Amino acid sequence: MGFFIGGNMAILVNEAERIITLQTKTATYQMKADEWGTLWHTYYGTKTAEDDLSYACFMRTRGHTANPYETGMQHREYSLETIPQEVSAFGGGDFRTTALRVRFANGTETLRLKYESFEVRKGKYGLPGLPAAYDETGDAETLIIRLSDPEYPIAVELYYGVFAEADVITRAMRVVNQGDEPFYLEKAASLGLDFAHGDFDLITFPGRWAKERVPERLQLRHGMNSVGSLRGLSSAQENPSAILLDRAATETSGEAYGFAFVYSGDFLLEAERDTYNGIRLLVGIHPDHFEWKLEKNGSFTTPEAMMTYSDTGISGISLRFHRFINEHIIRGKWKTARRPVLINNWEGTYFRFTGEKLIEMARAAKKAGVELFVLDDGWFGKRDDDRSGLGDWTPNEAKLGCTLAELGDRIRETGLEFGLWFEPETISEDSDLYRAHPDWAVKVPGKAPDLSRYELLLDVSRTEVQDHLIAELSARIREGKLAYLKWDLNRSMTDRYTASLPADRQGEMTHRFMLGTYRIMEALRTEFPELLIEGCSSGGARFDAGMLCYTPQIWTSDDTDAIERLFIQYGTSMIYPVKTMGAHVSAVPNHQTGRSTSMKTRSTVAMSGTFGYELDPTKLEEEEIAEMRAEIDTFKALYDLLQNGDYYRLVPPTSDSCTVWEQAAKDGSRALVNVVYHAVRPCPLSEHFRVQGLKDEWNYRISLVDPADSEKLDNRQKALFDGSIASGLALRTVGLYAPVQSLFRGKSGVTDYPAFQILIEKTDR
Ligand code: GLA
Repeated sequence: MGFFIGGNMAILVNEAERIITLQTKTATYQMKADEWGTLWHTYYGTKTAEDDLSYACFMRTRGHTANPYETGMQHREYSLETIPQEVSAFGGGDFRTTALRVRFANGTETLRLKYESFEVRKGKYGLPGLPAAYDETGDAETLIIRLSDPEYPIAVELYYGVFAEADVITRAMRVVNQGDEPFYLEKAASLGLDFAHGDFDLITFPGRWAKERVPERLQLRHGMNSVGSLRGLSSAQENPSAILLDRAATETSGEAYGFAFVYSGDFLLEAERDTYNGIRLLVGIHPDHFEWKLEKNGSFTTPEAMMTYSDTGISGISLRFHRFINEHIIRGKWKTARRPVLINNWEGTYFRFTGEKLIEMARAAKKAGVELFVLDDGWFGKRDDDRSGLGDWTPNEAKLGCTLAELGDRIRETGLEFGLWFEPETISEDSDLYRAHPDWAVKVPGKAPDLSRYELLLDVSRTEVQDHLIAELSARIREGKLAYLKWDLNRSMTDRYTASLPADRQGEMTHRFMLGTYRIMEALRTEFPELLIEGCSSGGARFDAGMLCYTPQIWTSDDTDAIERLFIQYGTSMIYPVKTMGAHVSAVPNHQTGRSTSMKTRSTVAMSGTFGYELDPTKLEEEEIAEMRAEIDTFKALYDLLQNGDYYRLVPPTSDSCTVWEQAAKDGSRALVNVVYHAVRPCPLSEHFRVQGLKDEWNYRISLVDPADSEKLDNRQKALFDGSIASGLALRTVGLYAPVQSLFRGKSGVTDYPAFQILIEKTDR
C-alpha cells in the first residue's frame, strides 16, 4: 500500500516495499530497494500510476556473471552486472562504467553501497558554492536517499530535486568520510540513469571555435559512447548536455531523454550499452585530473545535473529545458526584465579606438534606438593587441582620453547605458599583475607553461586571487556605473598545478578553480543585483547551465555571419532558450566569412537571440540607420513572443534551401514563423512545415511582419501570406510552404539569403 508525501504529490513513498516514485507532469521515475539493500532504478518514462514497476527489470541466470557473496549461493540470477541501479559503485561486481569510485586508506577501490534511508523535504535543495536550479513557485520537492558500505566508512547521499510542473528532475551526490583515516574520491558522477533495455541513439553537440554545438546523432554501439572536456571549461568541442532518444524518435515524435550538466568545468558524459543491451548514462565531473581527499568527517558535494523526459521527440526536450532554464536557472532581475538592445564595439573597432570614437559610435547607435554601449577588449592596462595587459584592470586613460567614470558619464549623456569587457581568469606575462605576482599564474614549477592567445590562466582556485578579482571588478563596476559586464575567457587550462595545495591534493585544483570563479560571480551578483553579466569564452566555449545561473546570457559564437549562426543557434536551441543566446547584427561583408547578407536577414537571425549590434554605426548610411531603427522597433514589439514564446525548429539548416523556426505564445494566441534562406539556388525545393503550438479550433490570420516583403512574392504567395485566414488545425496538419522570393532570375545584385517573418494571430473571423 502506497502513501503520498508532499503537497503536490511529486514524491510517493511505499515504505513497506521500499519503493519511491517521483511523479512529474508527464513522467514517472521510480526506484526500489531490494532485501539485500541494492537500490534499483526501475523506471523513467511516460507517466504511470503503477505502484511497483520492478517487474520490468528482468533477471535470469547467465554464465560467467558476478554474484554478490550474500546472494551468490542461492541466487545465481542476482548480479550487479545487470541490475539497473540508482547509484553504481566500482569494484563490487558491476563491470559497467560506474558513478562512484574511491580509494580507501588501505588502497582498495572496491565499494558496495546499500540503501539505508530516505528523507523528503519541501522545496528544492541548494548546493552551497555551486550553481543549482532553484524554485520560487512551490513546484519543487527534494528527495534524499542515504546509502553506505557495510564494511567501509563511507556514506553517500543522493539528492533529487523534483520539479513536477516543469517536468524536470535534478540530481547531485554527496560523499562523506565516516572513518578516521582519509580516503580519496576518484570519480563522483552527478547523475546516473540505467535502462534495462532500449534501442537508443545519442545526440551530442560537438563543435569548435566559431562553429559551436553542431548536433550529431549516432546509434549507441556496445561499449562506451562518451563525450567530455578536459579543457578546464565546458568547451566548444563538446557541450555538457545530450539527448538520448529512441531510434524511431524524431524532432516531434517518440521517446527522448534530455540531460544537462549545471557545471562549467571538465565534464564526462558517458552512455554505455552493455552486453545485455542495457544502457547506463552518467554525467559528472571528468574523473581524469580529478581526485578529492576526504579527511575524517570531510564531505564532497558534486555539481548537479538535470534530466527531462519527452514523448514528443526532441522538441519536447527543448521545450521543457527552455522553460526550466528560464524559470529555475536564470536568477534575479534579468529573469523577467527586458534585456537591453546593445551595441558592442569589438568588430567595429577591435583594439583601435579612442574615447571620442566610442562616443561617436554611441551617438549614432542611439539614433537607431540602441540602449546599451559595450566597450570590449583594449580599454585597460597596456592592451593594444592581445599580447599584453590582461590582469591590469586599470583604465588606460591616455587611450580613453578621460577616466572610466567620465567615459561612463559621457556614454550615458548620449542616452545609452554603459558596459565593459573583462577576462578575469587570465593574466598576460607582460602585465603589472604578473610582475607583482608571478606565482598567481597557473603553471608547473620548473616548466614553461603552454600559451594560448599569448595568455596564461590566473590561479582562481586560490582565495587571495578570488579576493583580488572581486575587489578589482567591483571597483570598476562602481567607477563606470556599469549596467553590464562581459565575462570572457579565451583559453583552456593546461599545466595544472596550484602552489596552494600539497602534492596529494593537486587533483582538486581544477574543480577549486571553478568554485573560485563561481564565488567571484556570486559576490558580484550579490553586490550588484542589477548588473547584467554576459558570459563568453572565445565565443561559445563555456555555454552551459552552470554559467547561466550567474550570466543570464552567453555570447553564442564569435561567428556573427547570419547564415553560420542559423546552424549554431539551431544546435544550441536543442537545450538552451533564445533568451540565453547572445546574438548580434554585424557588418557586411562579414568579418569571419566574407559573406554579405541583408540587414533584415541579419536582424531576423539575431532577434532569435538576445539581439544587439557589433559594428561601427558611424559608417552606416542614413537609410541603414533607419533600417536598424525599424528592426529594433520590430524586436521590441515582438519581444515577448520572440524571447518567451515556445520555440519550435520547423525546417533544419541542413535542408535544401531555408531554415524555419517558430516562437508560439504559451496560450496559443499567436506565433511568429521565421524563414531564412541559407542557400541561394536557382530552383530551390519548397520547404514545407507544420505550425506548432496553436489551438486547432481557433482561426488565425497570416501576415508578414514587414508588409514590404510581400513585394518579393508572386501573386499566389502574396494572397496567402498577406492576410489569409486558416484554422489552427489546418496550420498544424496541412501546414504551409515557406515563402520563396521570386526575384533571383535574371537580376544581378538582388539581396541573397532573404528572410521573412510571418505573424500568425488569432482572429474571431
Ligand atoms: C573573444 C570574444 C570576443 C571578443 C574578443 C576580445 O574572442 O569571444 O567577442 O570579446 O575576445 O579580445
